[in-house]
Amino acid sequence: MERDPNSRSESRAAARPRPCTGALDEEAEKVRRLYAEKDYLDAYSEHTDLRVAKDPHTAVGGMWDRLGTLQFEYLRDAGLAPHRSLLDIGCGTLRAGRHFIRYLDANRYTGIDIAPAAIAYARDVVRGESLAEKNPRLVLCSDKALNFCELQRQTFDYILAHSVFTHLMPQHIEECFSHIGTVMKVETQFFFTFSMADEYMSDGFKNFSYPEHIFYELAQRHSLVVREPRNIYEHPRHQRMLLLTRCPPDAQSGNRCDSER
Ligand SMILES: C[S@@+](CC[C@H](N)C(=O)[O-])C[C@H]1O[C@@H](n2cnc3c(N)ncnc32)[C@H](O)[C@@H]1O
Repeated sequence: MERDPNSRSESRAAARPRPCTGALDEEAEKVRRLYAEKDYLDAYSEHTDLRVAKDPHTAVGGMWDRLGTLQFEYLRDAGLAPHRSLLDIGCGTLRAGRHFIRYLDANRYTGIDIAPAAIAYARDVVRGESLAEKNPRLVLCSDKALNFCELQRQTFDYILAHSVFTHLMPQHIEECFSHIGTVMKVETQFFFTFSMADEYMSDGFKNFSYPEHIFYELAQRHSLVVREPRNIYEHPRHQRMLLLTRCPPDAQSGNRCDSER
């Protein structure tokens, strides 16, 4: 795991006594068994919960301050204004969510996640940072499907999935693309990050990389449009950002809904 020297939580973690090798082996074996015995998303959410119990900041990838601010500033520069609504898919422990909640008007932030401990910690962050009056909606997707049923067709101005597709397999991303239209208006902007590779690759239990064309093809299959966003996303571990929008109704009927590359 890459370390952020400026993060207070990470220096606290570094100062903690390290478990002895036997305990590390036991932990690694527990994680290995999780992924071997359970359905991927069940294993991944349990693994996230174990990581949240240890350190809620590194559980979502670390660089708590830097990556939280980076996401927030990126969306604000892309036009997110306080009166706009935001859906944060895979909000985790609110690394970025706490910045969005503070900035947005009340009732404008919705975060969804599949990991119960991440959502529980997110609720603590809201209380601890005196953000309760903003009334953010934090939703646990207990069935782990990316079909947005819990949101009951509520639509959003902006949607973000940051460091989420980096941990999902192709079938999960396809599920997301096939249902995301139910929570999008015609003008909704959905920003998502991914790790780029020449071909689909998995690394370890929960890291997946994709060639960019996969997203263009998926979008086309689901009447969506992918494009490079106007601003480059300067992610320290080189995740790429793409922008997904709906195909305008007139373009759909005229079959002119091409993603721009
Ligand atoms: C690496 S963390 C990133 C958290 C946050 N987006 C950020 O960048 O600060 C990935 C999060 O996505 C969540 N997640 C993964 N698959 C999901 C799914 N299918 N639906 C909702 N959340 C999901 C995980 O539980 C985890 O909290």
